[in-house]
Amino acid sequence: TITPVLLAGGSGTRLWPVSRKSFPKQFAPLVGDDSLFQASARRLSGPRYGAPLVMTNADFRFIVAEQLDQIGIAPAAILIEPSGRNTAPAILAAALRAAETDPDAVLLVAPSDHVVPDTEAFGRAVDLGLPAARAGRIVTFGITPTRPETGYGYMEAEGGNGGEGPLVLKRFVEKPDAENAARMIAQGDFLWNAGIFLFAARTMVEAFETHAPEYLGPVQAALTEARMDLGFLRLAPEPWDGLPDRSVDYAVLEKAGNLSVVRYSGHWSDLGGWDAVWHEIQRDEPAERGAVVDGRSTAIDCDNVLLRAQDEGIEVVGIGLRDVMVVATDDAVLVAGMDRAQEVRKAVSALKAKG
Ligand code: GDD
Ligand code: MG
Repeated sequence: TITPVLLAGGSGTRLWPVSRKSFPKQFAPLVGDDSLFQASARRLSGPRYGAPLVMTNADFRFIVAEQLDQIGIAPAAILIEPSGRNTAPAILAAALRAAETDPDAVLLVAPSDHVVPDTEAFGRAVDLGLPAARAGRIVTFGITPTRPETGYGYMEAEGGNGGEGPLVLKRFVEKPDAENAARMIAQGDFLWNAGIFLFAARTMVEAFETHAPEYLGPVQAALTEARMDLGFLRLAPEPWDGLPDRSVDYAVLEKAGNLSVVRYSGHWSDLGGWDAVWHEIQRDEPAERGAVVDGRSTAIDCDNVLLRAQDEGIEVVGIGLRDVMVVATDDAVLVAGMDRAQEVRKAVSALKAKG
């Protein structure tokens, strides 16, 4: 079976005020009743998969345990990173730990903040990639791009991007600038990296040995010196805290020569802003006149509007609004133009600076 590795240590500032430092977006119910983290854990359960390994930090450990318990999934382990050093050391720690018992163990690393509604279609994509992963490839999942987004990884497959794959990857470019993103979109045969990776434990360890050896000693030490605390496996802070903050995409994937890609044509969204949440909810239940409200809010004569009251005891009412998003929690209200969703991140920085 495949061991899912859920990455649940990030903080999503663009979904403020629901996403907070102490309660980031992956733990909030944004689309449907499950949190994104719960939906991710469910997606990676069932006959193909073993119990998941969760990588997170001390602040989120009880939320993780409680949310898994709520959906009846027992984790193989919840690993606590001493500090957030991005996905490179988190993924290496998972690979090293799995390799202790079985170097050939196949891991499926997945973010916990995405929407991938078609579990079966995704499972079939995983099945397609499995032989390549067993044969020592790092298998990525490719999404057909729709715009020159600069927040994603771009992947060029050998022989174009026809067929589902797995195809050999020629090139992996993480977060290109706008000009390069536009060029790759124009060229036409690039895919977006979904941020989901399938590989044998030893393959990833070897990739770090070759391309980012500075991580090996410290991450191994953090595991060797780890201690159990209330059922959580706490990695040792020394020398983990001194590691560079780098994502696996930059540290390893841009340099690796053994990447493959399976094209995933089912729906995929990384919910990169409230406009994306709005699209997701619309997909689920197209609302009249494009006004999307939750159960508590009221839209009168609104068009292309997201009204969202995240906490009980708050009601949002919109009258005659157009192209606007309103998100209210019990201590903050966001009101913004629908096309300004990406600037929420700036607002959060400004609020932080104000203290
Ligand atoms: N445990 C742990 N520790 N998880 C982390 C950490 C960390 O230090 N940092 C981030 N994560 C989690 C996030 O919560 C998220 O679920 C996942 O790892 C990916 O991190 P992001 O920070 O969201 O990455 P990204 O969106 O900028 O880029 C990645 O995903 C894109 C697709 O959404 C890259 O893989 C891109 O190439 C890709 O296109
Ligand atoms: Mg992301």
